[in-house]
Amino acid sequence: MLFRLIKPALFTLEPERAHSLTIAGLKALPPRNPPARGKLAINIAGIDFPNPVGIAAGFDKNAEVPDALLGLGFGFAEVGSITPLPQAGNPKPRLFRLAQDRAVINRMGFNNGGGEAAAQRLAQRRSRGGVVGINIGANKDSPDRIADYAQMTTLMAPLATYLAVNISSPNTPGLRALQDESALVALLDAVVGARAAAVTPEKPPIFLKVAPDLMPRDIDAITRIAMEKGLGGLIVSNTTISRPSLQSHHVAQSGGLSGAPLRPLALQRIRDFRTATGGALPLIGVGGIGSADDAWERIRAGASLVQLYSALVYEGPGLANKISRGLLRLMARDGFSTIAEAVGTE
Ligand code: FNR
Repeated sequence: MLFRLIKPALFTLEPERAHSLTIAGLKALPPRNPPARGKLAINIAGIDFPNPVGIAAGFDKNAEVPDALLGLGFGFAEVGSITPLPQAGNPKPRLFRLAQDRAVINRMGFNNGGGEAAAQRLAQRRSRGGVVGINIGANKDSPDRIADYAQMTTLMAPLATYLAVNISSPNTPGLRALQDESALVALLDAVVGARAAAVTPEKPPIFLKVAPDLMPRDIDAITRIAMEKGLGGLIVSNTTISRPSLQSHHVAQSGGLSGAPLRPLALQRIRDFRTATGGALPLIGVGGIGSADDAWERIRAGASLVQLYSALVYEGPGLANKISRGLLRLMARDGFSTIAEAVGTE
């Protein structure tokens, strides 16, 4: 209700400014508990998720408001991407609303305050519980990007319910090359090794976040390596560098496209990875999810969890609870008593 009133004003602001105000608003909210475990609960990679609807990385890049996001009804909050050193990201403007298309284009470039600052904040909220994933990245100018991921694993393993290794942002030149077979093996060896050596009894599962712009042979190789390295799951997918037909004049902006136009591609990639994994590796579906129907479609296609970001811009903060309510209805309609039962049944 409040969102509907302030949305026109927010949309007159430059998108990055509107985002900063939203983060400030979330910080000012009175503390609320994460959602309770109910009929939507699902256990993935040893983690109890109270519901399968998460907020995707990029919204809370600096881990400032994970608890406020859980308080809005998200079953899990993925903060980041966070890099070892603070970095400014690309020159502004770098974030574009494509309102007619219910889409976003961004070329932020991993702007964030760096690992140490985020780790301090995350350590302070650690005892509050809730599922908080930490999405890690590499600095643009790093001489050794794999070492950056290992360093971030060491720093964040004690603070994360899960770690998300993001090698699929299109806005750090060359980053997506880490999805190539030999680079991926070296990267995951370094990350898994750093987790094993981390000074924490809990070893958070590692999820790998991939791009939607992949060829079938990439999908097979990523699946095989992810299983060999014992990953907890795959996050499918990041933004796309492709440009399906769009109405907004911002279509020519470079960067990653997200929101409604990404939905068919991200859905197809979940299907592809479901086929490649045969259901043996959990999948987290993300890209263009904006309703309970979208979330249900992704789950039936093979996702055990879903995430969203862009739809929040257009639908407002009530969206997580709205999707959860809708999922309960869709589960009952289709005769499932748990989300887990429905995964991959399309
Ligand atoms: C993102 N996304 C993202 N992903 C990631 O792994 N690390 C990041 O830092 C960011 N940053 C980021 C910024 C902005 C402004 C957007 C819109 C997106 C990608 C995001 O997590 C998600 O994968 C895509 O946006 C697709 O989901 P939606 O937005 O279509 O629901």
